[in-house]
This record gives sequence, C-alpha cells and structure tokens, in this order.
Amino acid sequence: MKIIKSFKVLKKEINFSQNIGFVPTMGSLHKGHLSLINIAKKKCKRVLVSIFVNPSQFNDKKDYQNYPRELENDILKLKKYSVDYLFLPTESEVYQKKIVKKINISNNDKILCAKYRKGHFEGVLAVVNRLLQNINSKYVFFGEKDFQQIFLIKKYLNNFKNKIIICNTVRNKSFLPLSSRNKLLSKISLLKAEKISQLILNFKKKILTNFSNINLLNHYKKKIRKHCDNIEYLEIRNKNNLSVNIKKNNFKIFIAYKINKIRLIDNV
Ligand code: PAF
Repeated sequence: MKIIKSFKVLKKEINFSQNIGFVPTMGSLHKGHLSLINIAKKKCKRVLVSIFVNPSQFNDKKDYQNYPRELENDILKLKKYSVDYLFLPTESEVYQKKIVKKINISNNDKILCAKYRKGHFEGVLAVVNRLLQNINSKYVFFGEKDFQQIFLIKKYLNNFKNKIIICNTVRNKSFLPLSSRNKLLSKISLLKAEKISQLILNFKKKILTNFSNINLLNHYKKKIRKHCDNIEYLEIRNKNNLSVNIKKNNFKIFIAYKINKIRLIDNV
C-alpha cells in the first residue's frame, strides 16, 4: 500500500483514467468502513482510502479533540484489506492558506443535523469539494448512515464526475450502526444506544404494517428518552428530498441523541 501525503504526489502516482474507487474517511476504521472498501474493491481496479479528521466539520472543539484517532491500527487494517493507496493529507495540505471555498447551504437545508450542528455540513462540503477537485476517481463511496451528508454532497457538489455509490449501513448484532464514536461509549451507554436503534427499527416496522402508526412518534420519543440524556430530533422525512411530505414507501426515520455527552445518529 502506497501512503501519499500531498495532492501533487497523488496525481503523479495514481492513474485516474483507470477504474479507481475512492473511500473518504476520518479514520478509526471499523467494519462499516471496511464494508465500503470491500464494495469498492469489487467494483474498481484500484482503491484509494483517505484519512483526514477534518477540523472544519466539528462545531464543538471538544468533540474534535476527543474524536478517536488510531492511525497505526488503521494502516494495519488497510494493508490487510490490500488497499492500494492511502491518502493522509495534513491540515495545511487540505486547507492551503485557507483558500478553500466555503460552501454555504440554504436555509431550507438547515434541518436535522444541520439545525443542531451549525457549520458542520459546510465543513464536510468544503473538505469533500477539495478532495474531489483533486481525486478524479470513477467512483466515490459513502455509507448510508450519513444520509443527510450524502444528500447535501449530491445537491451541492454536483459538478464532479465521480459517481457516488451509497452503501448500506452496517450494524452490530444488536442493530446499532457502526460508528467511530461508538468507541467512546461505556458498556452501559452502548446498551442504551443499541436499545434506541432497536426502537426506531421497531417503529419503522410498525409504520410499514400500518401507515397510521406514524402517529406513534411521540410515544416512541418518550420511550427513547428513557435511554438517553436528550433527543435532538426524531423525525420522519421523505427519503428522496428530506421534506416532511411522506408517503407509505418513501420515508425514513431520522434520529440524533446524546448519551453521556456522546452524540449519535441513526436512520432507518
Ligand atoms: O463521513 C465522514 O467520515 C466524513 O464526513 C467525510 C466524508 C470523510 C468528510 O470529512
């Protein structure tokens, strides 16, 4: 595996006219990332993974400082998975002289996580924009767990040729979606988070059997509140445009909550 630290070397080393798959990450890799890599490996000739804990997408300094980082371990995992290239840019490589264009999102899009994490998606869009400006891969892979992130990337960064491949959320055996942040949870908090994912999956099933069960939203809120410090949002939205106009088969349930100050999200 070639480890590359600058865009210049990246362009020299990688032949982007080949079928290259790109998996952008913030490291602390888990089976969710590894499933993206697996899908990329099946679809592409060569796979490039990037690891960059992007400071501009953290609206909370402490969250940035506490974000799990385990680079050595990550490198071992990527080698084991026979990834071809690892891109490890420094902050100054990504944000050269701060000339990175800031992409603002419209007020209509300030819903769900964008409402509660001010500037978060602007930071995500800035870094993904910078990466895609330089990484002309055929495909780029994202996990469905970050559904709103993918929605906004598709909407605001639609000038790139990279085809976006959305990969299913990977869950543990108790249905909690895998996330680097799960590593920050105590055993008890982990059980609570698992319970919350089970509850929203259950709620979804109920709606699918009888659509009028969407009225159980407050009932589920009450149930979920027992397992966390607070719910930021629990909403049912249209999965195509994230509006509140939902029909039987085009909706998703979205949640963000905190347990012991750790913020977790899920969607089903
Ligand atoms: O989903 C993530 O891990 C990050 O938001 C991304 C897309 C790598 C940008 O920093």
